[in-house]
Amino acid sequence: MTVKQRTQVGIVGAGPAGLLLSHLLALGGVDSIVIEARSRAYCEARQRAGMLESTTVQLLRAVGLGRRLDAEGLEHDGIYLQFGGERHHVNFRELTGGRWVTIYAQTEIVKDLIRARTADRAALEFEVSETEVAGLDSDHPVLRYTDSAGQRHEVTCDAIAGCDGFHGICRPAIPRGGLRLVAERSYPYGWLGILAKAPPSTDEVIYCRHEDGFALHSMRTPEVGRLYLQVPADEDITRWPDDRIWDELQRRLGVPGWELQTGPILEKGITPMRSFVATPMQYRRMYLAGDAAHIVPPTGAKGLNLAVADVAALATALIRLLRDGNPALADAYSEHCLERVWRATHLAWWMTAMMHVVPGQDPFESALQLAQLRNLVTSRAAATMLAENYTGYAPLRYDPATRVVPTPLWPWVA
Ligand code: FAD
Ligand code: DHB
Repeated sequence: MTVKQRTQVGIVGAGPAGLLLSHLLALGGVDSIVIEARSRAYCEARQRAGMLESTTVQLLRAVGLGRRLDAEGLEHDGIYLQFGGERHHVNFRELTGGRWVTIYAQTEIVKDLIRARTADRAALEFEVSETEVAGLDSDHPVLRYTDSAGQRHEVTCDAIAGCDGFHGICRPAIPRGGLRLVAERSYPYGWLGILAKAPPSTDEVIYCRHEDGFALHSMRTPEVGRLYLQVPADEDITRWPDDRIWDELQRRLGVPGWELQTGPILEKGITPMRSFVATPMQYRRMYLAGDAAHIVPPTGAKGLNLAVADVAALATALIRLLRDGNPALADAYSEHCLERVWRATHLAWWMTAMMHVVPGQDPFESALQLAQLRNLVTSRAAATMLAENYTGYAPLRYDPATRVVPTPLWPWVA
């Protein structure tokens, strides 16, 4: 027997996009259910992004998700750009008149969100299977899934939010002709990322172009480092024992008088790199948000921040549609988001192209990369362009006036 249910918004995926959407909708008095294929423990441990734009931090604070972020996040004024054996600091705070970036891991945002949704007694189901969306040509699309105990559910919704990542089921469920444009770019390299019990050897994140490939030194806490190395797209991780990783990081990131601190590697993995944008980000009453709609290569740290920007706009649009009967923002959702999506897509592509080096690269290409990097550290105008885009571009399209539930300060930890 199938259990029949009703909700206003059916959300597929409990990544940052789906969880934050459910939280923002609840503040506006709109009901939702979030269904997730993986376990809670898996979602809370999945190592991914870590760099938040100041716009993302401000939103999370404004909606009651700032307590641990403010206590444990590492606020940075800017980044280091390293090339030709020189390391330069670019001060975003100074260039933008006060904007900054914060290191706070995606795992921690997901934990904070799950705790907040659970304390709010939200409908949040982990370990579901056989997820389907149907009735997409009607005003009442349907979400079907089997719960972790094997029970089949059918949820009639007023809208569905596809927050199910790049490999999810929502985007492929859009009928033929429903997507006008799928723009895609692949890159011949990936990032080998490590999480290490080694105190960061830098106060702010280092982006490094080296003749043998890109390297990035980030961090999670004062005791834990997060570092990345450019490797071939099809690289086999078994070719990278821990000692080789540390040696290569020291070689690429090294500058005179600077030593990389090493320690036990807690986790390692290789992330492929891709740019992808689906247009429009909606089909009637199904809306795509985050990685379900677009992917950027990680250089520039835009993926998570874009997911947050999408759901800030989507929550406002759905509250206006479903609570106030005004469809204007829901109709314009895709158009509103795509402006930021393409700005971030350009930034990520540009930073990737400027910082990665492929074996046997054309010397003309290398000279262009170095000229562009030199320009960034010598021209205030060029540095300001990077600073504005890196820290968050335009304000988020979140309207706090949609709230009916005043946000008490972090009630679940009080
Ligand atoms: P996701 O976090 O992917 O969440 C989607 C959720 O949907 C998942 O939990 C998934 O299990 C669930 N789901 C999928 N299919 C179904 C289904 N059929 N039914 C139910 N649930 C389903 N960005 C950066 O800025 N910096 C980085 O260093 C960085 N590293 C990354 C490393 C990896 C390996 C990956 C994949 C991404 C990385 N990103 C990085 C990108 C960033 O993490 C994402 O942009 C961000 O996670 C997007 O959030 P999301 O909620 O849209 O999607
Ligand atoms: C991190 C990831 C990025 O992609 C980036 O550009 C900067 C930092 C990180 O994981 O901390």
